[in-house]
Amino acid sequence: MANMQRGLLMAGNWKMFKTRSEVEAFILGLAPVFQKSSQVEAMVCPSFTLLSTAQKTIKRMGLPLKVSAQNMEYREEGAFTGEVSAIHLKELELRGVLLGHSERRQYYNETDVAINQKTKVALQYGLLPIVCVGELLEQRQAGNTDTVVIEQITKALEGLDAKQIPAIVIAYEPVWAIGTGKVCETPEANRVCKLIRTQVTAQFGADAANALRILYGGSMNNANAEALLSQSDIDGGLIGGASLKVDSFAELLNTANQVMSQQTVAVV
Ligand code: PGA
Repeated sequence: MANMQRGLLMAGNWKMFKTRSEVEAFILGLAPVFQKSSQVEAMVCPSFTLLSTAQKTIKRMGLPLKVSAQNMEYREEGAFTGEVSAIHLKELELRGVLLGHSERRQYYNETDVAINQKTKVALQYGLLPIVCVGELLEQRQAGNTDTVVIEQITKALEGLDAKQIPAIVIAYEPVWAIGTGKVCETPEANRVCKLIRTQVTAQFGADAANALRILYGGSMNNANAEALLSQSDIDGGLIGGASLKVDSFAELLNTANQVMSQQTVAVV
């Protein structure tokens, strides 16, 4: 996180875990983290049915914690049984939405074209799109990591304007590192995040690319977070497993705060 202006975003992806009472207990338990002043943007991404519980609890307690959804349909309304649109998410005053998570690509056949459509609609509704990209193990082993990631980025951002790029977040999540405990080596994670920034520079120019936050995701935990968050091109984390327990997520937020305050000291 070499660029102080970008700041760090720490987002907990809760996937299909937690009940309403667990969400309430989690948020109550996280409150002490926010007693210290914090420049880190903290976020949780619960299932659809838990979003309003999370929002209400946060409002009641006056916490700066943000809430985002894990997916959405790109069409605004219509006969699409079982889907949730940007209008629905906006009504809950959410911060944003995860798009193209590898589990959605893998189990629900989500394509780059759909992710691009969703990104555009999320922006139109003032939702922060957190666009996930990352290579499969076979692709890495075949030496295709860079080609795969560049293609996903190019397609996800196709047709956008340079001015829209700072309102987007990219999450680099090597699929083989998700939920496996196998974290991508820190220099390699930073190299791919830098590659993404270089690609965005080529598509949209340096100003847009420098303002873009790029997260790392894939087995981020309290043993590796400090090293990852201190890298030049990693601006936060998308955290699954280690975000489910309040103590563990609180420690991750504290680490992110420390990394940011060290950088502030270094800049001053
Ligand atoms: P993990 O999940 O931290 O459990 O690897 C990350 C993600 O899926 O976003």
